[in-house]
Amino acid sequence: MISKTIEAAINRQINHEITAAYNYLAISAWFEAETLPGFAAWFMIQRNEELQHAMRLYNYLLDRDGNVQLEAIAQPSAEFASITAAFEAALAMEKANTASINELYQMAKSEDDFATLSHLQWFLDEQVEEEKIMGESLAMVKLAGSDSSALLMLNEKFGSRRPEEEA
Ligand code: FEO
Repeated sequence: MISKTIEAAINRQINHEITAAYNYLAISAWFEAETLPGFAAWFMIQRNEELQHAMRLYNYLLDRDGNVQLEAIAQPSAEFASITAAFEAALAMEKANTASINELYQMAKSEDDFATLSHLQWFLDEQVEEEKIMGESLAMVKLAGSDSSALLMLNEKFGSRRPEEEA
């Protein structure tokens, strides 16, 4: 049986992941409105991945006989000053999520909850990847700046992203 402290922390993390999904959905809608469907599709994949992250934790909690408690989702930002600003917001969100996973890991460690530590290993690795991809993407849009042909090329490139196989 999982401890009440870890149960509450996992429920909070489920909320973080769904909040991230909701924010990525808002970013995707913003790109659609900017007529950049490639970027919009890229963020939609990102949104789907966040929901998968939430479901990993959800299923884990149930496997450990924990209680799932879904919390309110805050309204996401819907307006961005620029493409760069949208990616900056996304990178900041990933960094906050990494901090939250680290905190959860620390909590599980202090309780010697080895099963949770093992489950969180995947999330630690995933956050390294997520921050790397978002950082590189931000660097690319910064390089393109206001050059519309470069931005259209990036729109194509981002639009070619395929969803990862679900593990
Ligand atoms: Fe689920 Fe992007 O962290």
